[in-house]
Amino acid sequence: MGGHICPWWFAYTFDNRLRYFFHNPEKILAPYVARGMTVLDVGCGMGFFSIGLARLVGDTGCVIAADVQTKMLAVMQNRSEKAGVADIIRPHKSEPDNLGVKTPVDFILAFWMVHEVPGPQRFYEQIVQCLKPEGKLLIAEPRFHVSANRFQQIVALAETSGLSVYGTPTIKLSRSAVFNNDSF
Ligand SMILES: C[S@@+](CC[C@H](N)C(=O)[O-])C[C@H]1O[C@@H](n2cnc3c(N)ncnc32)[C@H](O)[C@@H]1O
Repeated sequence: MGGHICPWWFAYTFDNRLRYFFHNPEKILAPYVARGMTVLDVGCGMGFFSIGLARLVGDTGCVIAADVQTKMLAVMQNRSEKAGVADIIRPHKSEPDNLGVKTPVDFILAFWMVHEVPGPQRFYEQIVQCLKPEGKLLIAEPRFHVSANRFQQIVALAETSGLSVYGTPTIKLSRSAVFNNDSF
């Protein structure tokens, strides 16, 4: 697992206006995110989901938008300013093997990013450390890139790290699972 990181310029091929035909961030995330929550968008890229998360948590909540690429964070900030939600989103530069988020969060989104993580075991350890006991993690992986078998491995590894499958929502072009934090 892990390897090639999506270059910032490649993100424009899928993160554009057309994407709203496939992914409606607020509709996908509303079952797990409520007003006032603190949430983490890990591997936020250009912020397609960070902006949707900010609208759901509102001005009493907070979105930590984490990525290893400063260019992604810069585009995310620019887009969140244009969307009028920049005050709700806290950009966070992480390292490939060090998430570095210490704030306890109610919900974590990892959208189309886990297959890029070099050390998924360590990644999950850090995820459960900042996820509150009642918190949930949503992992979605791109179908065209991650096979059913590989996704099963991703789920199995999460389960050995103190996470348990809560549901398998249908998300277009994706394989996905929502997890509870059982590590407490
Ligand atoms: C394919 S993009 C998806 C971006 C965004 N989640 C979306 O759906 O539009 C994957 C992103 O994950 C980031 N990434 C890869 N490995 C990471 C890691 N270990 N920690 C944080 N971000 C990472 C990449 O820099 C890239 O921006």
